Amino acid sequence: MSSLIEQLNESAKYIQSASTANPKIGIVLGSGLGNLATEIEVEQSIPYSDIPHFPVSTVEGHSGKLIFGKLNGVTVLAMAGRFHFYEGYTSAQVSYPIRVMKFLGIETILLSNAAGSVNPDYKVGDLMIINDHISFFTHNPLIGKNEKGLGVRFPDMSEPYDKKIITLAKSIGEKLQLHLHEGVYTAVTGPTFETHAEYRLIKAIGGDVVGMSTVQETIVAVHAGMKVFAISVVTDLGIREDNNVITHEEVLEAANAAEPKLTSLFKELVVALNN
Ligand code: HPA
Repeated sequence: MSSLIEQLNESAKYIQSASTANPKIGIVLGSGLGNLATEIEVEQSIPYSDIPHFPVSTVEGHSGKLIFGKLNGVTVLAMAGRFHFYEGYTSAQVSYPIRVMKFLGIETILLSNAAGSVNPDYKVGDLMIINDHISFFTHNPLIGKNEKGLGVRFPDMSEPYDKKIITLAKSIGEKLQLHLHEGVYTAVTGPTFETHAEYRLIKAIGGDVVGMSTVQETIVAVHAGMKVFAISVVTDLGIREDNNVITHEEVLEAANAAEPKLTSLFKELVVALNN
């Protein structure tokens, strides 16, 4: 069995043999948010299943490919479909593609996700910039032997989400009248949605939204010295105590409906980051 660094090198080498593009910005598209990819002028599309050591996506609503192309004229590398802990992958596997991105020269990662809100001020379809997270309900992807070549043993997490990019995104949001919230993402393993008591707990400990992704990728990216910007699309309201049944279909539908707002933000953001 080859070492993690060797595996990452092999994955990156394969991808570089398929594309000569040199993007600095990576994008991860969350559940129901894959339409953003249709805005990318695709130069190269690589199925995850072709990439050595890449996990393969199984969940409905994820197409599972790496896309090299231009978003609003800016070269990007997008992951259409991500890996989740609830699919049975380890948290290190979930975040493996982020490390591959680092090996490919990506400096900034833009993450998106569908999330349930526990903040009474949020509505379905709203966007929330993630300015902090709570990761205690998931497995930390850095558990295990630390590869010095990737980052330090005990990484600082005082500012996982880049403040300058948040400021940039907020000003773009104002210009586009997107009414962006800013708050805390609480990561859970899923696949169950939360019970009433769990949603109440998440609210009580300072979470604004809750979801099943993003944080492991963020931790690995910060460990590797990459800048992270992350945003949630509110797809359901966890703290409604009346008939509050949540389904995956409803989550996908709400994410799909809000996706044009996310796309308009990302299109402007990549240009601003490129300057
Ligand atoms: N909880 C957890 N994950 C989610 C939710 C939720 O309410 N909505 C979308 N992803």
